[in-house]
Amino acid sequence: MSNKNIVWHDHHVSKEARAALKNQRPCVLWFTGLSGSGKSTVANAVEAKLNAMRQHTYLLDGDNIRRGLNAHLGFSDEDRIENIRRIGEVSKLFVDAGIIVLSAFISPFQEDRKRVRTMLNEGEFIEVFIDTPIEVCERRDPKGLYKKARKGEIPDFTGISSPYEAPVNPEIHVKNSELSIDACADIIIDYLAAKGYCNA
Ligand code: ADX
Repeated sequence: MSNKNIVWHDHHVSKEARAALKNQRPCVLWFTGLSGSGKSTVANAVEAKLNAMRQHTYLLDGDNIRRGLNAHLGFSDEDRIENIRRIGEVSKLFVDAGIIVLSAFISPFQEDRKRVRTMLNEGEFIEVFIDTPIEVCERRDPKGLYKKARKGEIPDFTGISSPYEAPVNPEIHVKNSELSIDACADIIIDYLAAKGYCNA
């Protein structure tokens, strides 16, 4: 659809002004990893720590967004691409609002993650690879989905019948199966504090 008759409006209150009130540098922590890798769990722990540090956050999570905004999208390549495009746009709006966003989606395609990175300014996109071997994810199988996928009951299941492209050079690389949740969260908090996104 053409949007040549739509003009972007600049607002009086800028992203910088919104962020300054919140005493933080807004950004997106983009968690990527297999189903069951621990993305949501670690993102939750990071958000709780940031909240206790009086930072302003919002957590966007795959399963929840797929019940609302993206309820009609499935798991074909095309639908996953659209899923990530929308989450990217929503993340960008939250960054504009001055928020530290935590986005936890499998986001299996390198190209889609790169597209979200290019939508944001330098330093606003922080790729967090929750690196958990598929054997561990499958052993955990918190939702029983791997079991179903192995039986052929879920088509296009990431890691089994649909690809997962691991990040090549993520800003943060977390080996979730070798660390406690708290230790994983601390790696991310330390990064944010060291780079001045939040107050240490
Ligand atoms: S993404 O690939 O489009 O980024 P997203 O993170 O939104 O995926 O959703 C993944 C969640 O949906 C998984 O954690 C799992 O609970 C559920 N799910 C249902 N079907 C599939 C499938 N075919 N592949 C992967 N996850 C699935």
